[in-house]
Amino acid sequence: MAQKVLLTGGAGFIGSHTFVELTKAGYQVVILDNFSNADRGVLDRLEVISGEKVTYVDGDVLDQNLLTRVFAEHKFDAVIHFAALKAVGESTEKPLDYLTTNISGLYTLLNVMKAAGVFRLVFSSSATVYGQPDQLPVPETAPRSFNNPYGYTKLVCEQSLEQVATADDRWAFGILRYFNPAGAHETGLIGEDPNDIPNNLMPYIAKVATGELEKLSVFGSDYDTPDGTGVRDYIHVMDLARGHVQSVDALLKTNEGHTVNLGTGTGYSVMDMLRAYENAAEKELPYQMSPRRAGDVASVYGDPAKARDVLGFEAKRGLDDMCESSWNWVSRRKNT
Ligand code: WQD
Repeated sequence: MAQKVLLTGGAGFIGSHTFVELTKAGYQVVILDNFSNADRGVLDRLEVISGEKVTYVDGDVLDQNLLTRVFAEHKFDAVIHFAALKAVGESTEKPLDYLTTNISGLYTLLNVMKAAGVFRLVFSSSATVYGQPDQLPVPETAPRSFNNPYGYTKLVCEQSLEQVATADDRWAFGILRYFNPAGAHETGLIGEDPNDIPNNLMPYIAKVATGELEKLSVFGSDYDTPDGTGVRDYIHVMDLARGHVQSVDALLKTNEGHTVNLGTGTGYSVMDMLRAYENAAEKELPYQMSPRRAGDVASVYGDPAKARDVLGFEAKRGLDDMCESSWNWVSRRKNT
């Protein structure tokens, strides 16, 4: 009998790509999403890619009664919890929304899982818990901190999961610290589809490339980095999705929890990304040097060794593939 996984936030950017990899790996998948940051049309396109009917629930992780009904209807072996608010800047304007959705949402989910006897959860965390690390590449043992409400919620969730697992060994958690997800599925049918002006670098460049936005503002050119612009560890969303399958596999096989970086171990600057995107789109992209963005760190990229040792995870796709797959996705979207 195929093992069954619930994807909260499964219609979103990382969630939808993880749906594809999980079904490919033979899992049965149910998506729960309130579609606050996802287009319902993604469900039809997931059916085209996976060749399977998509089972989904239109709802919110804060709705305990709904979750209880979903867990009564489906016998889940594990849950992957993506459903959360994730914009750093927005979190400084609406901290209470972030605390409620990201922290109370996790607690609601955990209580329903416990009542249903489901004790395997993969949690979508972020390299933001490292702040500006002293050591690069940053290992999982680096000290954690936060410098915005979004980062605070990720830190509190990680620490909450550690408390729960320490007190009750029925639980096993896969805590995955993403670096900078980028790119799209090779079909160009799914990808990053932000509702409004993107905060993140790649979707912003993508909209400059399609002409939806005028030019890229490079936030800071005086950082202590090779070309003065910010350096990050960009990881292809398909590599990231496969990392989630390997995390669920490990939880179900070993009943042991893990906390790992999902990154490539290589840092690229803003200008590296811009040039790579120009090559993918075969056009020059307008940009201007601008002041630093509040809260940004100069350089962060992850040590991928533990994910390799514990999960057998290794990112395979490079910056060019991220840009080519993103360009394929946004140009198809624009023409539909
Ligand atoms: C990357 C680089 C910017 C936009 C955030 C969250 C992290 C995760 C990923 C959720 C930086 C520069 C950006 C632009 C620019 N989110 N930049 N012009 O800040 O590394 O990480 O998103 O999980 O938790 O912290 O990503 O893409 O916003 O920025 O120059 O218009 O691009 O200064 O150097 P970031 P980003």
